[in-house]
Formats: sequence, structure tokens, C-alpha cells
Amino acid sequence: MKFFIDTANLDQIKEAHDLGILDGVTTNPSLMAKEGITGEENVINHYKAICDIVEDNVSAEVISTTFDEIVKEGEALAALNPKIVVKVPMIKDGVKAIKYFSSKGIKTNCTLIFSAGQALLAAKAGATYVSPFLGRLDDISSDGLLLIEDIRTIFDNYGYETQILAASIRGPLHIVNCAKLGADVITAPLAAIVGLLKHPLTDSGLATFLADHAKAAGK
Ligand code: G3P
Repeated sequence: MKFFIDTANLDQIKEAHDLGILDGVTTNPSLMAKEGITGEENVINHYKAICDIVEDNVSAEVISTTFDEIVKEGEALAALNPKIVVKVPMIKDGVKAIKYFSSKGIKTNCTLIFSAGQALLAAKAGATYVSPFLGRLDDISSDGLLLIEDIRTIFDNYGYETQILAASIRGPLHIVNCAKLGADVITAPLAAIVGLLKHPLTDSGLATFLADHAKAAGK
């Protein structure tokens, strides 16, 4: 399973990368705005800086909503770096654009997926990734993990190569459950990724090992 970090914060991307477990990055307009990245030149430079850190794909989301504009914006983003994946919303013109990008060999990530039907449509159009939003479904008392399971079943039934990129992850348990269900990729905030490290028995066990060693060494 690949690990992507869901942020536009360069320090956090570097921290996850330094851990040695990071594959790629996903961003969205909200995450870019959170870092204060505005204006075409700044946005472009920021995507380039992210691509310099990680080895795998970097999702850059279009802010256009009509076919012609999505294509124009997406082609410009894809030209920045071969790692760039054009992130396209699950709307009618978005699906058309995904089909177009697919025919041109441009990678896409269909975002804002909240149903298995939407994922099926994106896969049929040739999306490289679909991004089901787990946490936002959980937030409205729906079952985000059930959606991952359904999409896995559908893609396996027909051999779709579209990768399931589980997004809107809230904590380490989401990551573990996505791994159990066969998601191809998770994208998560740094805290959720680092949260996988933690267990109280690891902490207490290590403290005991170090104390026993110190005692035996007469310290
Ligand atoms: O990248 C999109 C997705 O991960 C958003 O997550 O936490 O805003 O629901 P969140």
C-alpha cells in the first residue's frame, strides 16, 4: 500500500519523507489556501517544490468546472512535472475531462467520491485514482470504510486498474482498516501517519529495557 500525505505544507511533507515511508502527496484548494499559496506563479512554484521532495505522484487539483477549462488547466498542471496527477472533481464535465486526459496519457485523480457509483464512473472514464472521502462520510453518520470495501469489490470484479486512494482520513485506525480492505493508497495528515508508530506497551517496554540495561551496567 502506498502512503501519500494530504497536505501542502512543505515542512510536513519533508518530515514524512525523512521517515522513509512517504510515496506521494495530495493537495486540494483548501490545503493550498491553508498554507497561504495564492496566485498562479506561487501555486506553480509550490507544486514544483513538492515534486522535488517526493518520488511518486503529486495530486494538483483544478479549480475549473467546465470541460474546456478543466482540460486547459489540467494540461498546464501536468506539464509541470511527470509526477503531477491532475485532480478532477466528480462532476459531469470532470468525468468527460478524465476520459480526455486518459486518452492523452495524463494521470488523473477523481476527487470528492462519496458513492460506489461515482467510483465506477470514474474508473470507466479511465481515472488513475479515485479518492473516496472516508472521514466526511463518517462525519455524517455514514460508513466510509464500507464505501472502500464496495469500490474494491467492483474494481476487482471487472479488473479496473484505477487505484483506490482512500482520502479524508482522520486517524491511524482508518489507515489500518484501509489496508485490511485493500485500498491501493492512503492519503492522510502527518498526525495520522505518525500515529501508527504509537503504542503504550512499546513505550513502557522500551523504558524497561533501557532501565534494565542501565542497572546491569551499574549506572
Ligand atoms: O484531499 C482531500 C481529503 O483528504 C480531504 O480531507 O479532512 O478535509 O475531509 P478532509
